[in-house]
Amino acid sequence: MQLPDEALEYNYQRLLAPPPEPWTPLAELQAQNFLPPDRLEPARQALERVRGQVAAERSLQNPPPRLQPLQPGFIDLPQQMLDAYRRKGDASELGKVNRLATRLRENCDRVVVLGIGGSYIGAKALFDALCHTYHNELPPKMRMGKPRMYFEGNGFDNDTLTDLLELLDNTCVDPELPEERWGVVVVSKSGGTLETAAAYRVVRAEAAKYYGPKSDWLKKLIVPVTGPKGRLRDLARAEGFSEDDTLTIPDDIGGRYSVFTPVGLLPAAVMGLDVRALLLGAAAMSKRFLEEPFDKNPVLQYAAINHLMNVEHRKTIRVLTVWSKKLEAVGLWYDQLLSESLGKVGRGPTPVTAVCTRDLHSRGQQHQDGARDKIINNLYVRNPKHPPIPVGMSDRNEDGLNEISRKTFPDLLEAAFQGTNQAYQEAARPTADIVLPSLTEHTMGQLMQMLMLATVVEGRLANINPYGQPGVEAYKRNMMAILKATPNVPKGA
Ligand code: PA5
Repeated sequence: MQLPDEALEYNYQRLLAPPPEPWTPLAELQAQNFLPPDRLEPARQALERVRGQVAAERSLQNPPPRLQPLQPGFIDLPQQMLDAYRRKGDASELGKVNRLATRLRENCDRVVVLGIGGSYIGAKALFDALCHTYHNELPPKMRMGKPRMYFEGNGFDNDTLTDLLELLDNTCVDPELPEERWGVVVVSKSGGTLETAAAYRVVRAEAAKYYGPKSDWLKKLIVPVTGPKGRLRDLARAEGFSEDDTLTIPDDIGGRYSVFTPVGLLPAAVMGLDVRALLLGAAAMSKRFLEEPFDKNPVLQYAAINHLMNVEHRKTIRVLTVWSKKLEAVGLWYDQLLSESLGKVGRGPTPVTAVCTRDLHSRGQQHQDGARDKIINNLYVRNPKHPPIPVGMSDRNEDGLNEISRKTFPDLLEAAFQGTNQAYQEAARPTADIVLPSLTEHTMGQLMQMLMLATVVEGRLANINPYGQPGVEAYKRNMMAILKATPNVPKGA
């Protein structure tokens, strides 16, 4: 179900070339850098073909080699999870996610999520976008039973890991007290990712020290999320986790497409987010993608516009400008999605995230005046969650703000948004807008599903397989070879 005023929109009219007019330098620049509207018509035919192909791929049992790897499971998963929950309740995968999340929420005050790439950024994006900006600093009463959240296992940063362990050590002294207990969600689909595996080994040892090596808490407060097979699955079994206490990432869903599997849903449920609303938003977007015509289909619109700007107008840098600090991690999530999906065979756009208005004071100069290699997609939330804060009148008007004293922060943001788009337009810099009516679980579900679907469509349009990430393997091979070729002693010993 989707209420009409909750629907995400993609507005791209500004980057269509205006009708020919008497020659002016600007008209010429716009003709070079904007998209001729009649270019969309043939593109629509290619899009229909690709939509049919992506839809058909969902039921391919034995994909031909040219389509491998093929992992389209994320397209139908949100609706499937909702349906299974309706039918089987607590016995469904979503029921299991809820049960494990409730157990963590009720029994501890801090949860560490270990994972990297697709096994963490989606959860971090949801946390930043939908939880209180200072969630971890809030007193327990204001957090209403939602644990503080930490993200580790996403690098080999000795000092951030030390700081986290130090924090746990100093704030959690008595494991008998729920407010001094901490838990772990360890996420790795392959189970073979060194960043996550090494962090888990250290954090688990710390937990064994804190709760006692045989304590039941080790099974109750640690939740492995992993693929159907692999080293983490084996380790979890060896550590005595039952199948009931382990969550599974389906085989036919790749890491960066997994935010609506337990990878993102378990942390989201621990944070107290409405996971059903997330899934409803994502399912609504899949339905729109599969059924709606181009004019009402943000997936097809976004994929077409960005693909054409990339391949025909050489806009190789794709900027996602988020107009809220709360959305910066969505930008990082999209950076990963786009890079690993389309950055192949010497091609693919380079993603960049900008946060406005902060980055108007840094990247803004480049975007306005620098190389003409960019398309900017704004991500804009129409309505803030909280009542608007007015600038306010003051006895001291040296700052000159009394003139706009009744304007509110949303008014200032809107003016900056419009002013920036106008400035880019007048310099023939192409921009388009993804608009969310508000920032909620339902709109975040739509947004993330829309970007995942559009990435797959774009890959198929460009003849690049959007699944798999063969390029990431090279550093892993070298790293392991270096580690094994050198003596097993600590650095500096
Ligand atoms: O998109 C992907 O598949 C990757 O970014 C993975 O999510 C990342 O490498 C982590 O892999 P794993 O979950 O196997 O530890």
